Amino acid sequence: MKTITLFLLAFIFTANSAPAPVLDAHGKKLRAGVKYYVKPAVGDGYIGGLILAQVGNESCPAAVAQSRGIEKGLSLTFTPVNPKEGVIRVSTDVNIKFSGSTRCHESNVWRLKYNEVIKQYAVMVGGVEGNPGPETLDNWFKIEKSIYDGYKFVFCPTVCSYCKVMCTDVNTILTDDSEGQPLVLMNDTYFPFSVIFYSTI
Ligand SMILES: *[C@@H]1O[C@H](CO)[C@@H](O)[C@H](O)[C@H]1NC(C)=O
Ligand SMILES: *[C@@H]1O[C@H](CO)[C@@H](O)[C@H](O)[C@H]1NC(C)=O
Repeated sequence: MKTITLFLLAFIFTANSAPAPVLDAHGKKLRAGVKYYVKPAVGDGYIGGLILAQVGNESCPAAVAQSRGIEKGLSLTFTPVNPKEGVIRVSTDVNIKFSGSTRCHESNVWRLKYNEVIKQYAVMVGGVEGNPGPETLDNWFKIEKSIYDGYKFVFCPTVCSYCKVMCTDVNTILTDDSEGQPLVLMNDTYFPFSVIFYSTI
């Protein structure tokens, strides 16, 4: 009896110490390396998936943006900072990578970069996967619960203990001169960019 109680306590403790898994639209745990489409939590069909977009007259580097049209966009995969972890959990560092062909001779890995056209920090591609530390800070994102249904992306890397990072949500902005609505660092209390994840299989 005592053993069972201890076992149960240990189980509960372990279960509590890991952040909750991120769930897809069907309530299944998000898995590392599996392809997902990202859809806005509000809206229907495949409206406004994520694409690689040209911003201004600069076709390269390409920015990550929400499509303005009825488009499911590009699928992507998540790779957790802990390579042994098969499940993607909220509030943990992940690399995010678009599937499919690359543009601009750059990797499809998301990274934060200053965008000269829109004059703010935006999510672009060309990042590197893995190797957590100060040099790769800009390549790590987290998924958090949104105040509405679904989740939101945040830039809040914890891969470097001494680096000072201001945690900020990833949101979309309207621009006239972009193929889509670029993803930028911006907190919006009332309208976070809330998304849900659909497995492609
Ligand atoms: C791109 O736009 C910028 C600013 O709008 C302008 O200065 C530059 O000449 C343009 N470049 C090309 C190749 O059109
Ligand atoms: C912005 O959002 C991040 C992540 O959700 C949060 O940690 C931070 O406190 C927010 N900042 C402000 C000024 O609200």
